[in-house]
Amino acid sequence: MEEVGFLGLGIMGKAMSMNLITHGYKVTVWNRTLSKCDELVKHGATVGETPAAVVKKCKYIIAMLSDPAAALSVVFDKDGVLEQMCSGKGYIDMSTVDADTSSKICEGITSKGGRFVEAPVSGSKKPAEDGQLVILAAGDKGLYEEALQAFDIMGKKSFYLGGVGNGAKMKLVVNMIMGSMMNAFSEGIVLADKSGLDPHTLLDVLDLGAIANPMFKMKGPAMIKDDYAPAFPLKHQQKDMRLALSLGDENAVSMPVAAASNEAFKKARSMGLGDLDFSAVHETVKAASKST
Ligand SMILES: NC(=O)c1ccc[n+]([C@@H]2O[C@H](COP(=O)([O-])OP(=O)(O)OC[C@H]3O[C@@H](n4cnc5c(N)ncnc54)[C@H](OP(=O)(O)O)[C@@H]3O)[C@@H](O)[C@H]2O)c1
Repeated sequence: MEEVGFLGLGIMGKAMSMNLITHGYKVTVWNRTLSKCDELVKHGATVGETPAAVVKKCKYIIAMLSDPAAALSVVFDKDGVLEQMCSGKGYIDMSTVDADTSSKICEGITSKGGRFVEAPVSGSKKPAEDGQLVILAAGDKGLYEEALQAFDIMGKKSFYLGGVGNGAKMKLVVNMIMGSMMNAFSEGIVLADKSGLDPHTLLDVLDLGAIANPMFKMKGPAMIKDDYAPAFPLKHQQKDMRLALSLGDENAVSMPVAAASNEAFKKARSMGLGDLDFSAVHETVKAASKST
């Protein structure tokens, strides 16, 4: 697997495909907004004009797209992946979607004779740039094994979780916890500030205790400065909360903390913050505390 197609050059896809190029892979890229291919081309990538053109050229194709609608569209719509999918090809979707979406894509790919692995990732822009993602794969075991070399370039650890849907579900559980943590963290920063404490000291205290974690450490100083440069866009975090809550519905799991967090992310979207980093949910807590 030294020649791959890569569909979707957003924050994550750009960093991941760049890593493959710098490790010697021949990469053919496609992005809906084609101009985003330019930087990859400077580093040696070639461009496919459509997803179908990329599939025609490559035996292995990786996708990293925003949400279920995008992941389905790239596969099933005109000029999409299915038009050139055939026996001998492998499709690896690393987008964060729900298990149903992943199953639909799997059915489409396998109905054409192709093989399918879902492989959403844990980790954000910096881990993607550093090849330090955690890969949550499920689906065709043989394709997973053939993809491991590329996964090892993009990530620090890969999990094979069994049948299609398990990778998607694991990713949604992880991001449900992360979104709830981000809301609690935002409330803590605002509470510290409003009650006369220095939020920077709060960060120092947190970092030395049992609830220290890389997310608080990395996001905290920027949040105190109202700096929400997007590493993980808030609109995607809200999508993940929505999909995780739906998984909770299916399994009759009551998740009041996640539901409240989802409301905060929705509120942030309504405030026009969807393209900022998901830590911008902090602004909803700040806005709510202004009225008292
Ligand atoms: N950023 C993170 O920290 C992070 C971490 C783990 C997982 N993820 C997941 O990884 C995926 C990508 O995230 P990202 O941060 O890279 O997002 P992003 O920067 O918003 O990029 C989204 C990509 O999807 C494409 N896209 C959107 N709608 C499309 C459509 N209808 N048809 C075709 N292409 C479409 C975009 O194309 P255009 O350029 O034309 O808009 C772009 O290439 C998401 O599922 C996200 O939840 C993100």
